[in-house]
Amino acid sequence: MKILMVCLGNICRSPLAEGILKSKLSSDFIVESAGTIDMHQGKAPDSRSINVAKKHGIDISNQKSKHLQSKDLEDFDLIFCMDRNNLKDVKSLAKNEEQLQKISLILNDAEVPDPYWGNADDFENVFQLLDEACERISREVVKS
Ligand code: 4NP
Repeated sequence: MKILMVCLGNICRSPLAEGILKSKLSSDFIVESAGTIDMHQGKAPDSRSINVAKKHGIDISNQKSKHLQSKDLEDFDLIFCMDRNNLKDVKSLAKNEEQLQKISLILNDAEVPDPYWGNADDFENVFQLLDEACERISREVVKS
């Protein structure tokens, strides 16, 4: 199974979501992340995301920001978005109902707040939200 985490820049939230979910699943699962804008393509995650992950024993420092491609909607089985803008942007790339069905908000009906203009506490809050969400996702995908 292939799972994709999506945010705006793919430097703050979705790299954390990728690292956290990977830490809960075996390598049979492929977990990647991407951003809906290409502005940060090729860059490592924001140092505040690297630091909060490290504090919780997860290394995301080798990740590189990628721009979401429409082919990702074919290639991945589940696509989790951090906020409603991401959800709208990803859904706009869907070519059919099957692709639309793969796409959801990672917190179901709530958003992961963008911590880009925030501080270390905001990144810790994002980590906690994503850790809980990834715990639930890991249980669901292992069952299926
Ligand atoms: P992310 O955070 O979507 O969680 O990676 C952001 C990264 C970059 C920008 C905004 C949010 N930006 O405006 O460049």
